[in-house]
Amino acid sequence: MSRMSAEARHPVRFTLNGRAVSGRAEPRTLLCDFLRHTLGATGTHVGCEHGVCGACTVRVDGAAVRSCLMFAVQAQDRRVETVEGLAGADGELSALQRAFRHHHALQCGFCTPGMLISLTSYLEQNPHPSEEQVREVLSGHLCRCTGYTGIVRAAMEVVAASARSTEGEHV
Ligand code: FES
Ligand code: FES
Repeated sequence: MSRMSAEARHPVRFTLNGRAVSGRAEPRTLLCDFLRHTLGATGTHVGCEHGVCGACTVRVDGAAVRSCLMFAVQAQDRRVETVEGLAGADGELSALQRAFRHHHALQCGFCTPGMLISLTSYLEQNPHPSEEQVREVLSGHLCRCTGYTGIVRAAMEVVAASARSTEGEHV
C-alpha cells in the first residue's frame, strides 16, 4: 500500500450488533465493503451495488438502508445492525429466521440477509401488516430462486404469531 493511499484512509468507529468496532476506510469505501472486507462481517451480501437488489440491506440507527449506497465514514458513531445480529447471544434464531427455515424461504440464500433485515425492521414498526403490505416490502428485494412464496409465508407466520400474542394480552 502506498504512503499516499494509507494517508487517505480515515478512522471509522461505530457499533456493530451492539459491539464497538473500528477500522480505517477511504472516503469512497462503501459501508457494505467495509463490513465485509475490513470487519469480516460477511453476512451482508453485495449484489448490484446500485441500490436495486436489496441484498446489502442493514440497519443504521434502527432504519433499514442499502449499505451499498452509504459510505463507511457515514456510519461514524452510529448503530449498525446486520444479519449476524439477528440471532440471540446463545445462537438461537429469531422468530423470522425460524419461519424462513420452516417455510423453505431460501434456496441459494444470497438475498436472505437483506430480506431478513428489511422484514425484521418493518415488522417491528408494523407488527400486523396485510400480506399485500409484506409483498410491498419485499418488492424492494430481488430473489431469483424462490418465487417469494415461502418468504411471504414465513413473514405472515410471524405476523400471525404476533397477533395471537397480542390477543392473549387482552384476554
Ligand atoms: S448490493 Fe446494495 S442494493 Fe444491491
Ligand atoms: S434464495 Fe437465491 S436469490 Fe433468493
